[in-house]
Amino acid sequence: MTDIVILTGAGISAESGLGTFRDEGGLWAQHRIEDVATPEGFARNPQLVTEFYNARRAQAATAKANAAHEALARLESALDGSVTIVTQNVDGLHEQAGARNVLHMHGQLDQALCAVCDHRWAAPLEMVPGMACPSCSAPAARPDIVWFGEIPYHMDEIEQVLSQADIFVSIGTSGNVYPAAGFVQAARAYGAHTVELNLEPSEGASLFAEQHVGRATQIVPQWVNRLLRDAA
Ligand code: APR
Repeated sequence: MTDIVILTGAGISAESGLGTFRDEGGLWAQHRIEDVATPEGFARNPQLVTEFYNARRAQAATAKANAAHEALARLESALDGSVTIVTQNVDGLHEQAGARNVLHMHGQLDQALCAVCDHRWAAPLEMVPGMACPSCSAPAARPDIVWFGEIPYHMDEIEQVLSQADIFVSIGTSGNVYPAAGFVQAARAYGAHTVELNLEPSEGASLFAEQHVGRATQIVPQWVNRLLRDAA
């Protein structure tokens, strides 16, 4: 069975209307990371950070999965049980397209987290600072997002699937942020074939054995169709 690990980044959701971070005019051109994507920023100004994620949650709530998300869901169901999607994205578009085995290493916009007891629950569209935790009642709700300086989720599981991957695919990510940017080296060390599908070559492009450049809604379905044809 061919085990495939697929890392996705903001570029796969760009054609669904969700902004990327480092492209021209991206999120990090509009906001300072230290203000809206660090625990210190949240402690300093919880209102600003809560509003930043409320705006992104509202956008993601009306976004539609695109042909790239749908192609990956099709691949997952065709190669039953041997595809793991590891996403840096906090939107729910992989699940909306029908994918089931999705690891959100940077958290999810539609979840709230209690900073006191680690309880998670479905975030309301509009969170407010100091919202009470439904489990321990502490006024300590925060977006369930992994901020810079915090430990990404599912790292043990990710290490496990990378160690068994026959193919590692990176889609729509600039390769700027670790540990995700280092997964290609780990996959290569484990002997996987490595593929990058991106609008332009990423920071780590030279580390990939195979490279496809273009818009995700074009090149991801093409790559999936070719893989399924070859697997038939
Ligand atoms: N199709 C394919 N790729 C695209 C498209 C598209 N339509 N549009 C943009 N891209 C590519 C860009 O060329 C870029 O390489 O997607 C990538 C987006 O890069 P970033 O904006 O840096 O997003 P990402 O790599 O996901 O960022 C990683 O950084 O700020 C943190 O937590 C945040 O998860 C995020 C992490």
